[in-house]
Amino acid sequence: MSSEPAIAAARVPRHLAVIMDGNGRWAERRRRPRVIGHRAGARAVNVCIDFCLEQGIEALTLFAFSSENWGRPEEEVGALMKLFLGALEREVDELDRRGVRVRFIGERERFAEAIRKQMASAEDRTRANTRLHLTVAASYGGRWDIAQAARSLAEDVAAGRLAAEDIDEYALGARTCLAELPPPDLFIRTGGETRISNFLLWQLAYTELWFTDLLWPELDAATLQRAMDDYAGRQRRFGLTGAQVAPAPDRLPATKETSE
Ligand code: FPP
Repeated sequence: MSSEPAIAAARVPRHLAVIMDGNGRWAERRRRPRVIGHRAGARAVNVCIDFCLEQGIEALTLFAFSSENWGRPEEEVGALMKLFLGALEREVDELDRRGVRVRFIGERERFAEAIRKQMASAEDRTRANTRLHLTVAASYGGRWDIAQAARSLAEDVAAGRLAAEDIDEYALGARTCLAELPPPDLFIRTGGETRISNFLLWQLAYTELWFTDLLWPELDAATLQRAMDDYAGRQRRFGLTGAQVAPAPDRLPATKETSE
């Protein structure tokens, strides 16, 4: 995939990034343990993947476990690890069959060996697939991502492979996770909070943001379609004026005519 962003908002985003929030509250409202919410959340992941495949979305990046989530109660972390392992074992065949390429970003070395092995095996197994690039951010933090890219640049400078004056945003961006994909066009967060929470801090610079109060386990295609419709009506300016990015008059869609 080319990493050039398109200036005009395409009707369907090429790359969708999602914070799947609200599993715990979904369970608590039913007086069930939080892990039940995470299980229901795993089912909603399939709803989201199905939707992307149906809509022809090329890349989906899901925030499954943040660097900070390691600090949750031991019981919840353990249950989540079990869930990840189970999902990896269960879903990979079907994902492969449907042409989904699976990758993981984050501090993989913090996971137990059994999970690391399953991650590597899922990546190997689906490497040749191109229909949907599914990236699971696990033990991931946007600050960690930028720091590891900076460390990689520093190592190259120290080894004489790179001149410090050649460091620019492209050089650093190329070493962040997801560098081989176009940046996310649309970000969705469920669960009612309106923040980025240390997700793809670098990559979301010009991403359109969409929030819903719906809890992640309640996700359905209609909600995702609402986000798509909202996205399709936005004008993406990337710091330019509305006039600069407006299409030729004979192809004018119904978009807002404002400039930043
Ligand atoms: C946030 O909800 C969700 C998580 C920390 C875990 C996300 C995991 C899944 C959706 C399940 C499995 C995922 C994969 C990729 C197989 P929360 O617990 O913070 O909810 P709350 O804000 O209501 O407490």
